[in-house]
Amino acid sequence: MNLKVLIGILGLVAYASCSPLKLNVTQLLCNSPEAAAAAQVSLDFINAQHTHGYKYTLNQIEDFEVVTKPDGTQVYLLELEFLETKCHVYHPKPVSECEVRPKSEMAVEADCDVVLSEAGGNFSVVAFKCKTEIETIDLCTGCIILDALNDTDGNQLVRNTLENLNKNHTLPAIFALHYIGRLTHQVISGGFRRTAEYAIIETNCTSVDDGSCVPLDLAVARHGFCHAEDNVNNVQAACDVFEVGSAPPAGPVSPSTKQGLKHHELTALHDPSATGYLSSESHSAEKAPVVKRTAGDPQPALVAKPEILLPRCPGPVIHF
Ligand SMILES: *[C@@H]1O[C@H](CO)[C@@H](O)[C@H](O)[C@H]1NC(C)=O
Ligand SMILES: *[C@@H]1O[C@H](CO)[C@@H](O)[C@H](O)[C@H]1NC(C)=O
Ligand SMILES: *[C@@H]1O[C@H](CO)[C@@H](O)[C@H](O)[C@H]1NC(C)=O
Ligand SMILES: *[C@@H]1O[C@H](CO)[C@@H](O)[C@H](O)[C@H]1NC(C)=O
Ligand SMILES: *[C@@H]1O[C@H](CO)[C@@H](O)[C@H](O)[C@H]1NC(C)=O
Repeated sequence: MNLKVLIGILGLVAYASCSPLKLNVTQLLCNSPEAAAAAQVSLDFINAQHTHGYKYTLNQIEDFEVVTKPDGTQVYLLELEFLETKCHVYHPKPVSECEVRPKSEMAVEADCDVVLSEAGGNFSVVAFKCKTEIETIDLCTGCIILDALNDTDGNQLVRNTLENLNKNHTLPAIFALHYIGRLTHQVISGGFRRTAEYAIIETNCTSVDDGSCVPLDLAVARHGFCHAEDNVNNVQAACDVFEVGSAPPAGPVSPSTKQGLKHHELTALHDPSATGYLSSESHSAEKAPVVKRTAGDPQPALVAKPEILLPRCPGPVIHF
């Protein structure tokens, strides 16, 4: 973190004069209303592309720049860090009300580079790429361990609880497994505590005796999201069922169904007009060109002169 701040400060004086692409790059403040507005538009857009797993929320604006092309048109480049929330993508709650998955539950984060255009003060997303990862934590005895989505015991817990649930709820509907959101296990006294979170979808059956059941069309089916827990063979499960039409609208690109071994990933690359801004790594914080300056070098004039010297970027960490 300290290193990044340092890079940010050095980048402030060094970047504009040594862009490797010979583009006119102006660095902007991460802690500004414009950065916040661009980040919000990016978050909403990326969440809308995401039809599996959980909604994401903003954790930090890592970099913010504007590139002026020779023809005078501009694009904004934003580097963002998102965190997975506990809200399923179909949950009607707005992201701002969703609880962030804490580190102790093996949080999932995503680093996204976003290209935006701006008109009349409004930003819109042109392209983005995201890399989704599980936060690395120190493993310990008794810690919650994230299991693979195809874990045998976890899948057994899902099947058993869904079967019981279908026998014992008040809706005239039978639900099928849509997909598993996350599986965990934890060593506790007496054995294991396992948890499963999974999405369910309404089928064409109305009773468990109906025989073969197939999921209804996504747009007309009721959806639900279930939490199941097996605490040393004491099994409990509960589901929220969302009304018809709660499925997120399919975004402007085909929905992502990609998943990692243990978690659901955000769309890795969305660049319909092949902007060329995402293929190169030259704008990522890790690789920002840094020129070592000696004390005697003249300092270039800054575009904006802040009263207090704050690091230009990254912006503040919102969650952890
Ligand atoms: C770079 O773009 C800024 C506007 O973003 C403009 O004021 C400046 O003159 C441009 N510099 C060059 C060298 O084109
Ligand atoms: C910017 O957004 C505002 C509010 O949504 C809207 O009224 C305005 O027309 C937009 N401006 C442009 C240039 O799109
Ligand atoms: C889970 O999936 C991985 C990767 O596809 C595979 O290597 C592994 O054998 C699977 N495990 C089970 C229990 O099916
Ligand atoms: C059905 O659910 C109710 C309330 O959760 C519970 O008391 C009852 O034991 C369940 N019945 C069966 C057959 O699982
Ligand atoms: C559900 O749909 C499948 C496939 O169309 C059909 O075979 C099955 O009989 C249907 N079940 C009910 C209860 O209608």
